[in-house]
Amino acid sequence: METVVSGIRPTGNLHLGNYFGAVKSFLQMQNEYNCFFFIADWHSLTTRPRPEDIIKSSRTILAEYLACGIDPEKATIYVQSDVKEVLELYLYLNMNAYLGEMERCTTFKEKARKQPDNVNAGLLTYPTLMAADILIHKAVKVPVGKDQEQNMEMARKFARRFNTMYETELFPEPQSFSLASQAVKIPGLDGSGKMGKSEGNCIYLMDDAETIRKKVMKAVTDSGPTTPNSEKPEVIRNLFTFLDIVSTKDTYQYFDEKWNDCSIRYGDLKKQLAEDIAKFNAPIRERINEYSQDIEFLDRVAKIGAEKAGESASKTLEEVRKTIGFRI
Ligand code: TYM
Repeated sequence: METVVSGIRPTGNLHLGNYFGAVKSFLQMQNEYNCFFFIADWHSLTTRPRPEDIIKSSRTILAEYLACGIDPEKATIYVQSDVKEVLELYLYLNMNAYLGEMERCTTFKEKARKQPDNVNAGLLTYPTLMAADILIHKAVKVPVGKDQEQNMEMARKFARRFNTMYETELFPEPQSFSLASQAVKIPGLDGSGKMGKSEGNCIYLMDDAETIRKKVMKAVTDSGPTTPNSEKPEVIRNLFTFLDIVSTKDTYQYFDEKWNDCSIRYGDLKKQLAEDIAKFNAPIRERINEYSQDIEFLDRVAKIGAEKAGESASKTLEEVRKTIGFRI
């Protein structure tokens, strides 16, 4: 069975971007692949979380994974920092990663711009740690959103480089995976290109109906179409993207027709959209609240996951050490 790996940083609650960009694929893939879904707490250290928040933040994501329907009986769910083998592979990959190529990564450049007083080596080597997460289980498919494309390209490069250097085929080249034919980018409703925690424009799975309504009603629009069947500007396309993912086909068509004959009322569209997002969130929200209260269960899931992931990781690491020339 082919192996799948993906992770999410515990930097807050899951939002609709995380869900439709990644988690939705996890749900389908857990039925068909050998899946490892983890919580990337080492990756979150680049932004210096407080020690008292570390475990709490991981539990939050774990509860949300479970509430979304990731099943610990089907997939291995673990916390990255519980599987220390990843770090050894990270070191080996770093030895063959070059400063120039790391500095050229747009994600590094962006992050360096956002936190100019803390451009740490962890930020620079983010792609090698991510590659280690993936290669430690020899994953072939990685369900991620469009924003991870460059990191995935780097992971393939490091896998290839290791294989070439040691004349081996130890690592498969991991491919991004999306349920849609193309990687997904869920937009923000504030006119920005992407929904993201650092953009401050997220609709969270935990948001209640009132919070959602307020966020959706604030969505940026324009003055409306003036010629029939015209192309939608980006902010309006963004609203329709949401209708497409949470509303029924009929609802989408209804507003699409209204757009085309220039009779669309954005207030009506937003009201409907807010209702549909709230309806989508409601059962997940309820389950998040339930799982969050059962810390013992969450910790048990993480412990079992860590054991399973550790087994898979140490098997790969043994091969890697042997290949490089170390004792095993
Ligand atoms: P992170 O924590 O930023 O995001 C987690 C997942 O959610 C997706 N995502 C989106 N997809 C579509 N539209 C959006 N607006 C949107 N916002 C977030 C991301 O693409 C991602 O799939 N580097 C990763 C974590 C990571 C990882 C890994 C992933 C570390 N190691 C190994 C896969 C494999 C990250 O920061 O994701």
